[in-house]
Amino acid sequence: MKNYVKQVVIAAAAVLATGTAASAQYPDRQITFIVPFAAGGPTDVIARIVGEYMSRSMGKPVIVENVAGAGGTTGITRAANAAPDGYTIMMGHMGTHGAAPALYPNIKYDPTKDFTPIGLAAGTPILVVTKKAFPAKDLKSFVAYLKANDGKVTEAHAGVGSVSHTTCTLLHSVIGAKGARVTYRGTGPALNDLVAGQVDYGCDQIVNLVPQIVSGNITALAIATAQRSPALPDVPTTKEAGLPEFEVSAWNAMFGPKNMPKDVTDKLVGALDKALDDEGTRKRLLDLGSVLPDTAGRTPAALQKLVESEVKRWGPVLKAAMATEKAADAK
Ligand code: MLT
Repeated sequence: MKNYVKQVVIAAAAVLATGTAASAQYPDRQITFIVPFAAGGPTDVIARIVGEYMSRSMGKPVIVENVAGAGGTTGITRAANAAPDGYTIMMGHMGTHGAAPALYPNIKYDPTKDFTPIGLAAGTPILVVTKKAFPAKDLKSFVAYLKANDGKVTEAHAGVGSVSHTTCTLLHSVIGAKGARVTYRGTGPALNDLVAGQVDYGCDQIVNLVPQIVSGNITALAIATAQRSPALPDVPTTKEAGLPEFEVSAWNAMFGPKNMPKDVTDKLVGALDKALDDEGTRKRLLDLGSVLPDTAGRTPAALQKLVESEVKRWGPVLKAAMATEKAADAK
């Protein structure tokens, strides 16, 4: 072997050996868990519940960092560009990894190619909610009210491409009327304003809403799933409430940047699995209305499949919904 080639081979072997040694010790320090929305919202709450258990089981702190902006795409872009060493992971969701590509032509990541899927954490049914003092008290009268006040009733959402924005866009296209949009850095702060009566309504994930609905601080008009939620048994489905065309659910899932070493990924997959098998963690998530994936539904392969099908699904749905909105504006 020529001298130069020999040196390259030795250097490559050394890098490989160091990488493997580093992976074997993983994690030997804190893991940063990027949540692309403000604290107190559904993505943050799920990440903190799961992250807390993972901290205990992995023996190193899993620390949530909220990096909000642009419907979650700011935080996800940051996390996608982090070193793929397992020390930066993220909680993405149906918006950031499904809907956003259809709404941001210059988005800097491809949900199907730029991540290492770790696993699905929770399904999150969507509800249509209003402030307590809203004049309409059921879904049918809400639709009539929105139609009569088209574009004037304030709607809280977490930015273009977020779950709240995407699902309310769908709702508007189904009913043929819309609200005046008010953007927040997450539905945590949006919910605070809804409780305070400063905005009128929103479409949000159940995890954010259960305590406020149960204590009567906001009104739940309907849940957009086929069945009622055990966490909110008194809230009718959209079908029961007369709007079967509006059926939609979201999800939150853990990803790393692409090209994470397999043994590091396996440790994170195992840690998420353990968290979702832990009775206390499950109870906390279920009490907030999450739908927990079974073991087969939370594998990295299942998550990759889900992301691919969501990107395919949301592109045409959102284009059609936006076209309907534009046509209504032009009238
Ligand atoms: C959040 O945590 O604030 C949400 O997941 C926002 C959203 O996508 O609506």
